[in-house]
Amino acid sequence: MNSLQQTLILLYQHQHEYISGSYISEQLNISRQAVWKNINQIKQNGYIIESIKGKGYQIKHFKKGYEESLIHEFHKQHPFYEFIHFEDVVSSTQNIANELSYKYSNPFIVIANEQLEGRGRFNRRWDSSKNLGLWMSIVIYPKISLERIGPINLFISIAIIEVLRNEYDLQAMIKWPNDIYIDDKKICGFITEGQFSQNELHHLTCGIGINLFQDSDQLSNQFERQITSLNNHVEDINQYEFLNHMLNYLTKYFEIMDSISFEDYKDKYISYSNIWGKEYNFLVGQHSFIGIPLDVTNQGELVINHDGQHVTISSGDILS
Ligand code: BTN
Repeated sequence: MNSLQQTLILLYQHQHEYISGSYISEQLNISRQAVWKNINQIKQNGYIIESIKGKGYQIKHFKKGYEESLIHEFHKQHPFYEFIHFEDVVSSTQNIANELSYKYSNPFIVIANEQLEGRGRFNRRWDSSKNLGLWMSIVIYPKISLERIGPINLFISIAIIEVLRNEYDLQAMIKWPNDIYIDDKKICGFITEGQFSQNELHHLTCGIGINLFQDSDQLSNQFERQITSLNNHVEDINQYEFLNHMLNYLTKYFEIMDSISFEDYKDKYISYSNIWGKEYNFLVGQHSFIGIPLDVTNQGELVINHDGQHVTISSGDILS
């Protein structure tokens, strides 16, 4: 690793305080002149660094997109994951995660700054423009029976909602099964893909896409759905801090999900969604119909009132 990257890592490690040029020069065993050159280069790369005489330097704003060296540094805070595989551009983090999944048996993460073939549920396109979002796949190896896989989706949605509500004070809502909305606009979608061998779950790949700086005018399918982005609601996003919150909340559920039951979290889930009792158009396969969401089962299915009958659906979309 060169001294430029090392300087950036020092600034990242001390992001909540100022560090002096002499401290950096001592730590990295480089001249003050070299420190100064590195700081200037980091600024040119898009970071905002404040320098105050007598105090030193502090990062005030990160450049958009994740940086490989900082991701590796960041990983030290999350030892639950064996590694974080980072690439600037990929087809889809889901593909990379699935390819790697048979080589490992402990959870790991794949993150990219851009996906050329980002995909959503039902193989729909997921726009993942460069540096404008968190495009991440997490591979986990839960030792659970098949019927306990469904609720994992629900736990993921609870975790994402808790990040947005608790850490950013946003009224985020779950739209069953896999969407997160703010002000009736989608900010996040996720998919959970399972790979099985001999009827046993080998691993799950949880792909999460969150618009950090991406808005509907940047999307190819802007007419299809209304979307929003975290930067419409939060000033000056620090994408590492956001990732840190996401992993803190998700990991909490991943760690305990072999032993917990969704039943104990159902009230929470219900309260994080505002679909209950309202009439919606549903799309299940090719079939569209009207119904009113009533409840969610412990397996993660939605119970709706359709023409006076209670119908349970395990997959599909709630249209407007
Ligand atoms: C949906 O809304 O239908 C789910 C979207 C999931 C997008 C994420 S971005 C990271 C991961 N890689 C992909 O190709 N898809 C998921």
